[in-house]
Amino acid sequence: PRPILLTRHGESRDNVRGRIGGDNVLRHLVEVIVTCYDSDKGEIYAKKLANFVEKRLKSERAASIWTSTLQRTILTASPIVGFPKIQWRALDEINAGVCDGMTYEEIRKNMPEEYELVLFLFFWLIRLNSSSFFIMAEVRLHSVSLVVYELWSITITCPEVSHLFPCFFCKYRARKKDKLRYRYPRGESYLDVIQRLEPVIIELERQRAPVVVISHQAVLRALYAYFADRPLKEIPHIEMPLHTIIEIQMGVTGVQEKRYKLMD
Ligand code: F6P
Repeated sequence: PRPILLTRHGESRDNVRGRIGGDNVLRHLVEVIVTCYDSDKGEIYAKKLANFVEKRLKSERAASIWTSTLQRTILTASPIVGFPKIQWRALDEINAGVCDGMTYEEIRKNMPEEYELVLFLFFWLIRLNSSSFFIMAEVRLHSVSLVVYELWSITITCPEVSHLFPCFFCKYRARKKDKLRYRYPRGESYLDVIQRLEPVIIELERQRAPVVVISHQAVLRALYAYFADRPLKEIPHIEMPLHTIIEIQMGVTGVQEKRYKLMD
């Protein structure tokens, strides 16, 4: 059996700030001195990973290192020497579209346009339906739709108060409800990511030598689920911690898994 080692890149500045997507460098010394001095975790992990890979794949001269085309994975791979490195665009993190670089909190506050349309349609549906009712019902429905319309206007013009309304129309909540299918505006869904990973998976299956895949949370969830045979609906919720290597061994008896947590 030959191993496939899956790992996320070392902690990046965006990880520390809670921002999604982007193409940020690893958390390095200058940044750490400017902010708070604990440790330059991203770079430390890159070095620890290189040590691990060197020992683990010492006799595996045909092994290769696959990264995405984003800086944080390329930098994580940089201390590893002696193995060919291949960059795959298909290993890039899920494209968060207009939300790229935002925190989850900012997305919730700044995306009223995401539910604006749904509310608008709801408002008109009520109006349409009401024409077939008695006058009283119609008045009542109109007042309901007016209240909805008012809430909608307030929410659109004043996103700060939007969290006060139990807004089940909100698409951001829709992501929580159906994270697998939710597609970021002008971005991707998990299903899109799974689809674009197909050539990577075919190539991984074809390889006879070990492969180290350094990629991102959403992408690794999908890759891991494929090898660990996890159901589609679980993929967006699989735990994929930083600074941890998941080793998958594909043998005749099936797939075996080991995890190495190199640091916090
Ligand atoms: O926060 C790191 C990150 O890799 C983001 O770039 C990406 O959008 C996110 O994780 C994917 O995780 P989730 O689908 O849980 O938001």
